[in-house]
Amino acid sequence: MMDYIDRRKMMEELQRAPTDIADHLETLRMLVVEFKLYAVLELGVREGNSTLALLAGIDEIGGSVLSVDLDPCERARARIAKHGLLGYWTFFQSDALAFLLETCPYYHLIFVDLDHGYDETSAVLEAYAPLVQPNGFLIFHDTVSHPELELALREFIATHDDWRFYNWLNNSGLAVCRRAEGC
Ligand SMILES: C[S@@+](CC[C@H](N)C(=O)[O-])C[C@H]1O[C@@H](n2cnc3c(N)ncnc32)[C@H](O)[C@@H]1O
Repeated sequence: MMDYIDRRKMMEELQRAPTDIADHLETLRMLVVEFKLYAVLELGVREGNSTLALLAGIDEIGGSVLSVDLDPCERARARIAKHGLLGYWTFFQSDALAFLLETCPYYHLIFVDLDHGYDETSAVLEAYAPLVQPNGFLIFHDTVSHPELELALREFIATHDDWRFYNWLNNSGLAVCRRAEGC
């Protein structure tokens, strides 16, 4: 487990780095910790910025992050190892939609940061939203930088009344969707 100083230092470094997700990383960690989101699925890793933030939260409460990406994401793995967080992390190199065939459990949080086309986003929503537990979260990055993603998301929310939608406009946009209780 990271100590408080190491965790704070890592999160500050992540937030100060000039990435298009830096402003949202503490939010991801906060949601994991405060809502006890023990079972996390991440679609889209690249160099692991969001992965590290999610793992920092899991490190505080226990649980695991399962991540999927088309690429091997070796740099992300090295960063996660450097911070001693590999024990909480499982990685699958796979297409996100193909991976669905290999997964069956429900998740407290699914974080999506893929390539953001309308069709892919709609397909991901149809496939993965049912896997989010009641009271759980489905979070998409890049709603502002990729309007077609936001369109697919808003259409989904408009036709699924068990979901609530909050959209942050900064740092490329972050949509936080929460599934209603008892659905
Ligand atoms: C924007 S980057 C993810 C950034 C990462 N979340 C972060 O915070 O640094 C998008 C990633 O999605 C992956 N990707 C794109 N389409 C995919 C798909 N259909 N299935 C799996 N991974 C995909 C890409 O390989 C890339 O690593």
